[in-house]
Amino acid sequence: MDPTDLASAGDVPLVELKELSFGYGARPLLREIDLRIGRYERVALVGPNGAGKSTLLQLIVGLLAPSAGQVRVLGRECRSEADFRVARAKVGLVFQHSDDQLFCPTVLDDVAFGPLNLGRSPAQAAAAAERTLAALGLEGYGPRVTHRLSGGEKRLVALATVLAMGPELLLLDEPTSGLDTRSEARLLDHLDALPQAMLIVSHDQRVLERLSTRALWLQQGRLVEAELHRHPHQHRHAHLHLHAPGLASDQDHLSELPVHAHAHPGEAELASTVQSYDCCDGDRRDEAHGR
Ligand SMILES: Nc1ncnc2c1ncn2[C@@H]1O[C@H](COP(=O)(O)OP(=O)(O)OP(=O)(O)O)[C@@H](O)[C@H]1O
Ligand SMILES: [Mg+2]
Repeated sequence: MDPTDLASAGDVPLVELKELSFGYGARPLLREIDLRIGRYERVALVGPNGAGKSTLLQLIVGLLAPSAGQVRVLGRECRSEADFRVARAKVGLVFQHSDDQLFCPTVLDDVAFGPLNLGRSPAQAAAAAERTLAALGLEGYGPRVTHRLSGGEKRLVALATVLAMGPELLLLDEPTSGLDTRSEARLLDHLDALPQAMLIVSHDQRVLERLSTRALWLQQGRLVEAELHRHPHQHRHAHLHLHAPGLASDQDHLSELPVHAHAHPGEAELASTVQSYDCCDGDRRDEAHGR
């Protein structure tokens, strides 16, 4: 597949899965999955632990091979490693575990790796890496030793390694897990400002509320369209606020108030999502905070 074909592909979906099935060994995990993601779409992929969300993302970029069905990227079917190598320049996966993504001695090496792989000169790749790091607020991180970064820093660097390649679609697997409130808010600001389409796996209500325009629910091997809607309502619950030692409780908070918003799918078959994703159970919250 010629990369220039991809660039001129017009309105075809960025990614299309057709009746995709997969299992680890003999146990079927994903069954006849159909999916289309168009330009500018931000699609949330939700479902219980072990449903196969991370597996699905890996199938899209060819890190796993389906037992049946098709993966198409910008209209072209991907079968061989050579096809997926081209596709991975357009569809970038940010792994659930950053250590799976970062393998170079320094941050600059890691972020420049993708552009180098795409045929950029070392100077061009380094410049692309520096630009991407700066855009994510990571100026000066280039010489840092990757494996000594904190978990939150690794998350941002892992995102930088993908963004440096200029993909058109980002596959984000739990992008905010392990981040503190401030880092999460900063990451969400960065992601929200990006032009790329996104497929976002997350259990975090704030991520879904802020980023997604559409939601898909994966359970028992099947992928179905979920309804995302918002409605105003009032309720009582406790938030955990932190104050510096010795400061009265009406002083400035050390952490920002958690952004909170509520959504429930409202569909009978999605009843379990309500429990997982709706945080408006005031009694449960009060109990959790000892009230
Ligand atoms: N390499 C593997 N070999 C065998 N089974 C695997 C392998 N990787 C994942 N699995 C199993 O496949 C299922 C789906 O895993 P996957 O990581 O895709 O789930 P997930 O929806 O991303 O879950 P989570 O929300 O916990 O991240 C799980 O039962 C997992 O144990
Ligand atoms: Mg996962």
